[in-house]
Amino acid sequence: FDDSEKASKAVAHEIGALIRQHNQDKKPTVLGLATGSSPKKVYQELIRLHKEEGLSFKNVHTFNLDEYYPMEPDSVQSYTRFMKEQLFDHVDIPVTNYHIPNGTLAYDKIPEFCRDYEEKIEKLGGFDFYLLGIGRNGHIGFNEPGSIITSKTRLMTLDILTKIDAAIDFGGLEKVPKKAITLGIDKIMNAKRIVLLAWGEHKAESVARAVEGPVTSEIPASYLQQHPNTTFILDETAASLLT
Ligand code: F6R
Repeated sequence: FDDSEKASKAVAHEIGALIRQHNQDKKPTVLGLATGSSPKKVYQELIRLHKEEGLSFKNVHTFNLDEYYPMEPDSVQSYTRFMKEQLFDHVDIPVTNYHIPNGTLAYDKIPEFCRDYEEKIEKLGGFDFYLLGIGRNGHIGFNEPGSIITSKTRLMTLDILTKIDAAIDFGGLEKVPKKAITLGIDKIMNAKRIVLLAWGEHKAESVARAVEGPVTSEIPASYLQQHPNTTFILDETAASLLT
């Protein structure tokens, strides 16, 4: 796409059409969602579709990729807060239908929480659609370089590049949490449809390595080459290193 504006609208319209189809068929829609700067305009357009074109989220269930650990849900950097501000508070999704990893758990409760998160997804039949971003190091969710394709939902140690990119939000590198809870690659790969968004020159290298390089744990997004129904939605600059 020429720019992220047009691209985001197209993605929101695909999600909207899927929700409408499922609503008509009286089936729930199970969405996987990301935070960060990449999906913001998609969420804006989904809100517009709700407010102006009657798109209902009453039967939509969502599971976000990740949350920093530790993290209070009302902190400025919290992904729970982000999702409420960017989407959930502006549409008719029931509060019981959206799920975001809990950054307030006691350390020893995390494995149980992760198993439960995956079970909830399985009970709903897995993801109909997963919306992803990509890190400059090729991460998806907080599945950092080195993550295996069968990785489960777990506590992950953040990569240095991820912390550098987050430092501005936290007011300094030393204030960025060292860990995050992330959905594993296994559940992402089982989604029926995946769309990965990337905008800007700073993403061009990781996009090129993910799309045209070898499939490797060093670039977790490269696993998506093995998924049967994935599209990378890029602006001109993010696509600039593709051959
Ligand atoms: C966010 C997430 C991350 C981001 C990625 C890109 O929930 O899981 O993988 O998608 O770091 O971030 P932005 O979009 O801010 O460039």
